[in-house]
Amino acid sequence: MISKIRTLTGITTTGTPHLGNYVGAIRPAIEASRRDDVESFYFLADYHALIKCEDPARIAQSRLEIAATWLALGLDTDRAFFYRQSDITEIPELTWLLTCVTSKGLLNRAHAYKAAVDRNLADSEDGDAGITAGLFMYPVLMAADILIFNAHRVPVGRDQIQHIEMARDIGQRFNHLYGDAYRAVTKAAAEPFVLPEAVTDENVATLPGLDGRKMSKSYNNTIPLWLSAKDLRKAILGIVTDSRAPGEAKDTEGSNIFAIYQALASADETAAMRQAFADGIGWGDAKQKLFERIDAELAEPRERYNTLMAKPGEIEDRLQAGAKKARERSAPFIAALRQSVGLSLSTVDTVPRSATVRATPPAALAPPMWKRYREKDGLFYFKLVDPAGEVLLQSKGIAQADEVGLVIAELLIMGSHFPRVDTATLSMEGRVEVIGAADSVRAALVALADIEKQKRAVKEQGEH
Ligand code: TRP
Repeated sequence: MISKIRTLTGITTTGTPHLGNYVGAIRPAIEASRRDDVESFYFLADYHALIKCEDPARIAQSRLEIAATWLALGLDTDRAFFYRQSDITEIPELTWLLTCVTSKGLLNRAHAYKAAVDRNLADSEDGDAGITAGLFMYPVLMAADILIFNAHRVPVGRDQIQHIEMARDIGQRFNHLYGDAYRAVTKAAAEPFVLPEAVTDENVATLPGLDGRKMSKSYNNTIPLWLSAKDLRKAILGIVTDSRAPGEAKDTEGSNIFAIYQALASADETAAMRQAFADGIGWGDAKQKLFERIDAELAEPRERYNTLMAKPGEIEDRLQAGAKKARERSAPFIAALRQSVGLSLSTVDTVPRSATVRATPPAALAPPMWKRYREKDGLFYFKLVDPAGEVLLQSKGIAQADEVGLVIAELLIMGSHFPRVDTATLSMEGRVEVIGAADSVRAALVALADIEKQKRAVKEQGEH
């Protein structure tokens, strides 16, 4: 099987989607998600939204609108992974693991944080006045978004490139610190994290807004995506133009109308519009043509959007299904990462319920036992036997007596460091046969490792 390139991007859920978002991000993303050689991950970055917006109603509304937008525009959720960041509990979990390997100095250098500090200083305020730790930590949360699914490529705007570079740095640091432990846990040769690359599409024009500056919420010059046809037309009539009269040849260069038209239209349509400009089309007619072109593209999705927004339950179902699909990846991955840093679930969690109950009466507190012996074939053997006499592990014949001790020591290390070890690993490359239930074997190893630890502690105390 050829492994696919994973593409991932997040959409902060603070505003209402506009035409610039559509042309610059949503449309190319949906197109890319149809390719067979990529696996696409698109998500609503609603935890990130909290950093920028403390209005619960707006957060909730924006999440809904943006989800409906992607669905209405035809994102195929059977192909792509489409989910809400806050539904993937592994993301905040990973955020903490990454926080602990991220140097504070790296975060000090983040553009968004630095700009906020600079603004404060310019106002003769304390540098950190009004800056939340959330803003400071923004890049780490973003790194977790990306690394949890081991994305190769992250399509973003230029303003986000630094964040992707930070995600690489943070991922690399984690790989360096915990790579060996991770490989011991997973028995795979891979690094924990793929180091992601930012992808900025040079061809995707940033759309000018109504006033000619870049279309952006912060300039309040956007054309919202889901205006009714009537309001869309009105908005387009409001686009700023120069004062050339009908009949005068018009420059396509620097014309907002032309730039928006070109971003949406085919090459042929664009050529025809270029000709119309040269022939002196009036601005009113040009705006009408632009309106018709946008409306032709959005009329059907607009209906789907309105239908979805009227039934938020349907949107919720799709998002829940998306979260489930995504967590099938993130849940086992975080388990391996936790083990790698030494945070496997406690013995209480690992010991199966029945075993815990059995352990309660004092008589059953007897530990499992190693039994070593030599067979007539001259080889050395051992087995691990539980207090009831059931065999949990049975070794194959071992030529050297001292190797028996080494294999047992390795098993004990697994008990103390990797209580969720799988049976394949327990078989020690074929030297051991796992006979008992995996949970019982793991519980026995954990218990024996604990006993060893206690013995060592007692011995050390005696030495002091
Ligand atoms: N910070 C991104 C933005 O403002 C949104 C985002 C959050 C994101 N997490 C991400 C983008 C992960 C790409 C990958 O545009």
